[in-house]
Amino acid sequence: MANILCIGAGYVGGPTMAVIARHCPEHRVVVVDINEERIAAWQSDQLPIYEPGLEEIVFSIRDKNLFFSTETNRHIAEADIIFVSVNTPTKTFGQGAGKAADLQYWEKTARQILENSTSAKIVVEKSTLPVRTAEAMEYILNSNDKGLFFDIVSNPEFLAEGTAIPDMENPDRVLIGGRETPSGQQAIRTIADIYAHWVPSANIVTMNLWSSELSKLTANAFLAQRISSINAIANLCEKTEADATEVAHAIGKDKRIGPHFLRASIGFGGSCFKKDILNLVYLCEYYGLEQVAGYWEQVVKMNEYQKASFVSRMISAMFNSVAGKRIALFGVAFKADTSDTRESPALDVCRALLEEQAIVVISDPHALENARLDLKDVADKVIFEPDPYAAAKEAHAIAVLTEWSLFKELDYKTIHDAMIKPAFLFDGRNILDHKKLYETGFNVYPLGKPAQTHFTR
Ligand code: UDX
Ligand code: UDX
Repeated sequence: MANILCIGAGYVGGPTMAVIARHCPEHRVVVVDINEERIAAWQSDQLPIYEPGLEEIVFSIRDKNLFFSTETNRHIAEADIIFVSVNTPTKTFGQGAGKAADLQYWEKTARQILENSTSAKIVVEKSTLPVRTAEAMEYILNSNDKGLFFDIVSNPEFLAEGTAIPDMENPDRVLIGGRETPSGQQAIRTIADIYAHWVPSANIVTMNLWSSELSKLTANAFLAQRISSINAIANLCEKTEADATEVAHAIGKDKRIGPHFLRASIGFGGSCFKKDILNLVYLCEYYGLEQVAGYWEQVVKMNEYQKASFVSRMISAMFNSVAGKRIALFGVAFKADTSDTRESPALDVCRALLEEQAIVVISDPHALENARLDLKDVADKVIFEPDPYAAAKEAHAIAVLTEWSLFKELDYKTIHDAMIKPAFLFDGRNILDHKKLYETGFNVYPLGKPAQTHFTR
């Protein structure tokens, strides 16, 4: 039996520990957080995050071998293995502002671990961190006069929100990085043994600490780069009457390219992609690799352009003015099946439309609460409406910004009847039946495809 502790009960810590606890009934898993409200929610019937399949697991093992608590110090003292999953946002101040990772929570956590420890422990980096962070953590933890030794292991998470549970249950790979010393290798084995309860050994990949840390940043940079690449092509498609979905299908058939992550969109969002790429950019700059930094930075710049380009297309289609026009935004979560709105491109689209003095109504099945917080500075100008039919009533346009399947099932004839004409529909996720919408009377603007309009100009 091992006492496993996770510090940080967020989108990563919560689901990860729930799956570990479920597969390792002999271990005791405790998740702590400084945020009391969050812990209270984890202990209640209304979990703090929406993630398909999460409730079933948590409700079945909570208070059996999965516990949520705010008593961090006590649980540190009892733990054998500590996963650290606190947030590492982009620095907003000082050196590296806007690019480097803000490691203050990580460092504070490391010091707190040291202060409350009376036995040796394995400390696992679960948060995405800049390369060589483990080294700094080793210095902090191991320069103690208690005679305690801490092994640092990097075990980056690859779960995507909305599919966190299946991603954890059936991972492409689990990555574990550690020191090449005997104790480092033993620490790797201990962590590998946890995952071996349900992950085939061929999918548990071990390597040195720095490779593991860099692999996480690189994986996210490559994924984001594919989206920026197809979005760049989508812009060209809109000008040339080529179709980005057809192009993606054609190139994805090439085994060397593969079909995934080629959906043109209003841009990528989420807490990781932008932050991790900027982190990579900062790291390259730090080592004097200006060209390499510039290469990766372009992925983020392309993403910013994509959001702006979507709004420009809307304005230009709507006779160059959206001032005073009601526009319904379908979706504000950064992707479907999550309540998370961090870095959601929908928020940028919303703000850009507000700048143009449009009347913006946002509808989303799970993310309105978070969106309200994100947009509190402009709250008096935005309408939050859970019912998409009500949101679109008397609107000039609908913009689909999140690919919730709910939006595919709506009766667009009823919606069209209640809108101001000419009615516009901008499908930023290409999830709707554009031909049918056109036949219903909409002027349809799919992303990366020619518009289907009733105008004869
Ligand atoms: C976070 C990071 O953003 C991501 O880069 C990393 O890969 C995993 O951890 P996420 O779980 O989505 O991802 O973040 P968030 O939902 O913000 O959860 C972090 C939690 O840590 C918060 O609940 C916060 O209250 C908690 N925290 C933060 C602590 O308990 N102690 C601290 O000192 C700081
Ligand atoms: C990502 C990584 O996938 C995951 O491995 C890592 O651990 C954390 O970061 P996440 O941010 O939860 O996960 O979601 P992801 O599915 O990667 O989507 C990120 C963004 O890209 C979303 O806004 C999504 O809508 C967008 N996207 C994704 C596209 O625009 N097109 C695509 O083809 C795929």
